[in-house]
Amino acid sequence: MSEVERKHWDHRYRTEGARSNEPAAFLLEVAPRIPPRSRVLDVGGGNGRNAIWLARHGHDVTIADVSAEGLTLARSAAASAGVSVATNRMDFDIDPMPPGPWDVIVDFHFIKRHLFPTFRKVIRPGGFLIFCRATTRNLERNDRPPRPFLLAEGEGWDLLDDFELVIAREGWSLEGRHEFEALARVPDQPAGSDSE
Ligand SMILES: C[S@@+](CC[C@H](N)C(=O)[O-])C[C@H]1O[C@@H](n2cnc3c(N)ncnc32)[C@H](O)[C@@H]1O
Repeated sequence: MSEVERKHWDHRYRTEGARSNEPAAFLLEVAPRIPPRSRVLDVGGGNGRNAIWLARHGHDVTIADVSAEGLTLARSAAASAGVSVATNRMDFDIDPMPPGPWDVIVDFHFIKRHLFPTFRKVIRPGGFLIFCRATTRNLERNDRPPRPFLLAEGEGWDLLDDFELVIAREGWSLEGRHEFEALARVPDQPAGSDSE
């Protein structure tokens, strides 16, 4: 599956380039909650539209993605913007999660359900997961993404069961996509939990 995805995305980035360099509207909405100079991991970050915006706003950002072509676009866009982002070509189906602790993980339009318990472990207590993914209702108005890459309605809440939900909602966006969006916080450690 991953090799198929890698070829698909490499081909798409090579032939179409970046579809958008604009950060996601939901990222802009929640950005004021991100502490200054956060260490951020953008999973499946592709051509870096969100990562570069975060780097321009003072964060220390790493993009992890299976597509070398997408990461090349991201490095080039970062250089044009005069910022630096780290890039990590990796396959989340096979490779271990880049070690934390991360202050924030950003996950836009990339769904690997098995990663959510790991997100919870590598984000520091009090840190955030910012997540956005289309649901199956999106197919009522859009052909893509295809069903295997969509959340079932209500599934977002289940995936984030171990987080504190600051924002969690599902509905039609202004751009006409039916999406689940969440700002999820890793609970603080109870006092004394790190002592024997
Ligand atoms: C729909 S794009 C989203 C890109 C970016 N998050 C955004 O919102 O613009 C999905 C991204 O996931 C990456 N991807 C797909 N399968 C992957 C895997 N197994 N491991 C790492 N990245 C993967 C693709 O290369 C692609 O860049």
